[in-house]
Amino acid sequence: MARRNKIYEGKAKILYEGPEPGTLVQYFKDDATAFNAEKHDVIDGKGVLNNRLSEYFMSGLNNIGVPTHFIRRLNMREQLIRAVEIIPLEVVVRNVAAGSISKRLGIEEGTALPRPIVEFYFKDDKLGDPLVSEEHILAFGWATHQDLDDMVALALRVNDFMSGVMLGVGIKLVDFKIEIGRVYDGDFQRLIVADEISPDSCRLWDMKTGKKLDKDVFRRDLGNLSDAYTEVARRLGVMPNAATPMTKPKLMN
Ligand SMILES: Nc1ncnc2c1ncn2[C@@H]1O[C@H](COP(=O)(O)OP(=O)(O)OP(=O)(O)O)[C@@H](O)[C@H]1O
Ligand SMILES: [Mg+2]
Repeated sequence: MARRNKIYEGKAKILYEGPEPGTLVQYFKDDATAFNAEKHDVIDGKGVLNNRLSEYFMSGLNNIGVPTHFIRRLNMREQLIRAVEIIPLEVVVRNVAAGSISKRLGIEEGTALPRPIVEFYFKDDKLGDPLVSEEHILAFGWATHQDLDDMVALALRVNDFMSGVMLGVGIKLVDFKIEIGRVYDGDFQRLIVADEISPDSCRLWDMKTGKKLDKDVFRRDLGNLSDAYTEVARRLGVMPNAATPMTKPKLMN
């Protein structure tokens, strides 16, 4: 068997060379990390769930005209994606205060924000992915004015889609992070949603009970992470190997 060409191994995923130029295979691992990898564990089945959930969200976005890197799922842990040039920024959208914004600005967790707030963090593990302003982004050439406009527009469309999908299954989309990449089409370039959209990169709270159904379960030791992700997948109807009730064979006459 020929060995595949591994392009990159990160904390949660591995990228392999894809079958055609301009494609990659994204493999979802079971590893969970938090606080810049200070906390690490292996959660059985997390990769399978995130592969399914990212497929579900990204293909939903593709269907409503929000471009993403997702092409198709290949198997339990892998999907075929378009290779992009990742913009070195994490784009965060917040609907409700939680996590770092609560700490930094002293806003109590759970406070509804007056409007969705878009933030940019510089992707650099050594620096702990610091919050940056548009001034930093422009001055250091990480993105142009046009890119910034496009990134905000993309992020807000993802927010509207994801908020609606989650609302439909009784879950509040508190915040999420996306990565955005550049693709080239002849003389043109455009930005598309890349990386993953999963409970690893969102805050999801049950609307009735407030129960957390995202990576905070792991960060804050609140219980079983795989149970929380399975709950999200079950509500959305994307449970892998969903236990379909066995129906008795019917006698035809
Ligand atoms: N379509 C794509 N084309 C190229 N690179 C991508 C694409 N989608 C995601 N990536 C990159 O692949 C890597 C995914 O691996 P993983 O999420 O495990 O990384 P990580 O450990 O979080 O590190 P990083 O800080 O680089 O995100 C990330 O570096 C991400 O930016
Ligand atoms: Mg990552």
